[in-house]
Amino acid sequence: MDVGVFIPIGNNGWLISKTSPQYKPTFDLNKEIVQKAEHYDLDFALSMIKLRGFGGQTEFWDYNLESFTLMAGLAAVTKKIKLYATAATLVTPPAIMARMATTIDSISGGRFGVNLITGWQRPEYSQMGMWPGDEFFSNRYEYLGEYIKVCKELWETGKSDFKGEHFQMDDCRMLPMPQKKIPIICAGQSTAGMEFSAQHADYNFCFGKGVNTPTAFSPTSERLISVAQKAGRDVGSVVLIMVIADETDEKAMAKWEMYKEGKDQSALDWMTNQGAVDKKSGKDTNIRDMTDPTSAVNLNMGTLVGSFASVAAMLDEIDTVPGCEGVLLTFDEFIQGMDDFGQKIQPLMKSRQHLTAAAVV
Ligand SMILES: Cc1cc2nc3c(=O)[nH]c(=O)nc-3n(C[C@H](O)[C@H](O)[C@H](O)COP(=O)(O)O)c2cc1C
Repeated sequence: MDVGVFIPIGNNGWLISKTSPQYKPTFDLNKEIVQKAEHYDLDFALSMIKLRGFGGQTEFWDYNLESFTLMAGLAAVTKKIKLYATAATLVTPPAIMARMATTIDSISGGRFGVNLITGWQRPEYSQMGMWPGDEFFSNRYEYLGEYIKVCKELWETGKSDFKGEHFQMDDCRMLPMPQKKIPIICAGQSTAGMEFSAQHADYNFCFGKGVNTPTAFSPTSERLISVAQKAGRDVGSVVLIMVIADETDEKAMAKWEMYKEGKDQSALDWMTNQGAVDKKSGKDTNIRDMTDPTSAVNLNMGTLVGSFASVAAMLDEIDTVPGCEGVLLTFDEFIQGMDDFGQKIQPLMKSRQHLTAAAVV
């Protein structure tokens, strides 16, 4: 099973809480995390794009770096870990994104891939006058389908004459071409989103569910297997999970309880209201369903809380889910979390036994 880290490009990572670690995103912080990830033989690091935060007392995600430029910097200070940036496709023309990706492919020596998103939060784009209107909620994956066709033509042939509803190329050129195929990930959970992944992506990221229920995302993985089979392609699921670990189950659970206790209610309210604006995409995504009071504090992200041994065992359970090819980890405290994962969790995981002993020292 592959393991990746979802690096904290926004302040406070993924805990919308006044009692969780409070920090701002910087290059140095993310460099330290990704270099640790590389040291512990993690397979990849991903950064998101978020252009408008949720406010509240913690100013949640009001501070965010930009994904491609951050990954370009990280590409220059790493050697083997794969790096993925997230493309803000509504505000970055495909020919520009394709060239940015080709540039990071060059910096990284072929270790770069792209996470394609449509955007689900209107103010991120309306604040700069670039929201195309609410009909975008229903046609956003058609837009993304055209977008990726242009990029793939440029990456694979160096030119594009694509003519579609959203994009018209006119003998568009882009050289050099990337030295390696640029892998594409998407995190579609809706029917349209998953169909997009089945047709165009190499991996689909999905949300884990619940607390200490590591295989609860199996139905999502099954849905992907089914749509990918229909498309005649092999697309693996990678599940997003937060790890809160400590020496004992009790100590870890005490931290989780403390974070929930300190939830930043006004930031949570803002997020819930944003999610509710989209009436078109359905409710099959946690991002728009904040009704679960146990975990809205971390965006309803699937969460593993426990001793290092308990977390290792639950991660191994994830590996048994058909169609699952990896986990994407977040931590309550990323520096400590990476060291604990590399030194105390990963060595206990059966699904990571292929790594050499040297990597876990
Ligand atoms: C691992 C992961 C990363 C994501 N990254 C972003 C991101 O950077 N920016 C963003 O606006 N949405 C992001 N999303 C949201 C998804 O792109 C997607 O919109 C969401 O999962 C809902 O699925 P749907 O678009 O099919 O409704 C991410 C979701 C996941 C699970």
